[in-house]
Amino acid sequence: MTNGRIAKARLGADGPEVGMQGLGCMGMSFAYGPSDAAESRATLERALELGVTLYDTAHAYGAGENERFLSPFFKAHRDEVVVATKFGLAIDPDDPTKRIIRNDAAHIRESVEGSLRRLDVDVIDLYYMHRRDVGVPIEETVGVMADLVREGKVKQLGLSEVTAAELRAAHTVHPIAALQSEWSLFSRDIEANVVPAARELDVTLVAYSPLGRGFLTGSFAKAEDLTADDFRRQQPRFTGDNAAANAALLDPVRKVAEAHGATLGQTALAWVHRQAAVHGLPVVPIPGTRKPARVEENVAATGIVLGEEDMALLEPIAAEVAGDRYADMRFTSAGRE
Ligand SMILES: NC(=O)c1ccc[n+]([C@@H]2O[C@H](COP(=O)([O-])OP(=O)(O)OC[C@H]3O[C@@H](n4cnc5c(N)ncnc54)[C@H](OP(=O)(O)O)[C@@H]3O)[C@@H](O)[C@H]2O)c1
Repeated sequence: MTNGRIAKARLGADGPEVGMQGLGCMGMSFAYGPSDAAESRATLERALELGVTLYDTAHAYGAGENERFLSPFFKAHRDEVVVATKFGLAIDPDDPTKRIIRNDAAHIRESVEGSLRRLDVDVIDLYYMHRRDVGVPIEETVGVMADLVREGKVKQLGLSEVTAAELRAAHTVHPIAALQSEWSLFSRDIEANVVPAARELDVTLVAYSPLGRGFLTGSFAKAEDLTADDFRRQQPRFTGDNAAANAALLDPVRKVAEAHGATLGQTALAWVHRQAAVHGLPVVPIPGTRKPARVEENVAATGIVLGEEDMALLEPIAAEVAGDRYADMRFTSAGRE
């Protein structure tokens, strides 16, 4: 840390530099049960004070609600923050309770205008394709995204949950600054192909759910600990026998945490940084929290450096995790590798 603020990492080959840890804002409006708006706003402000500059949202987080919620914060700090949002998950016209993936030009055009309006900004700093619609060639999708850059609506492009081949194809059309995928002690499938491709192409890895959606912090141990509307209740890792088996996998995390005087969550975040260093590429984890004290705790993890013995203790965990990371793995790059 310098001046009490976290160090920086490069976003894409040409920057800009952002705080080496970002903030996932999804839970402030969506997916993880009830939230307190004032507490979430205090979390955003505290994060910024500590040097967190990359803020992550998406149209899909509450059908625009999360973007609207963040808008006053972004307006108040426009020059200090990097605003990242996403298109590509839309409401199914045949069943409003379901979501569909869309990567077509009409959807992208409509989405970017909606996001600019809801965020109330002139330009989106980092615009991601949230999910891959295999019915649309990725070159076509990124071609439309590149037009948005030329038109000044978007500064940098990102992709989420794409395969290495998709990333390479996209990169031939326009440089991709960031690849956002799940990367944590529990979810390492991207290390086989996606991470090496990102390193080769100078793409920054934005690691989502680096705390295993909270499970790695020990803050919940099974689906029943969560409110009825919590999205995680549907996730295979947190239900039935899988949850108990996975909770037992936290023992080595606890051991490493104790050795460093750290919390479980800090250890999980420190692992992401160390693992990215092992793979030789820049990473910006975006842990999600709605609590100022937790953002302080998470940011402090950037000062923890795990050693080889720690990494060896943590190495076997991912292979032993019970249950997929999504109920429908077609929503992930691993489901298409
Ligand atoms: N591209 C994609 O498809 C995709 C998918 C999922 C998520 N994301 C993005 O990634 C961000 C982060 O992922 P995530 O929120 O799914 O998972 P995460 O960061 O792994 O975990 C978030 C959960 O951990 C809890 N938590 C955070 N810090 C904690 C601490 N220090 N101690 C105890 N509990 C703590 C949070 O609770 P509180 O909020 O109550 O503190 C929340 O329930 C999201 O906000 C979103 O922006 C992207």
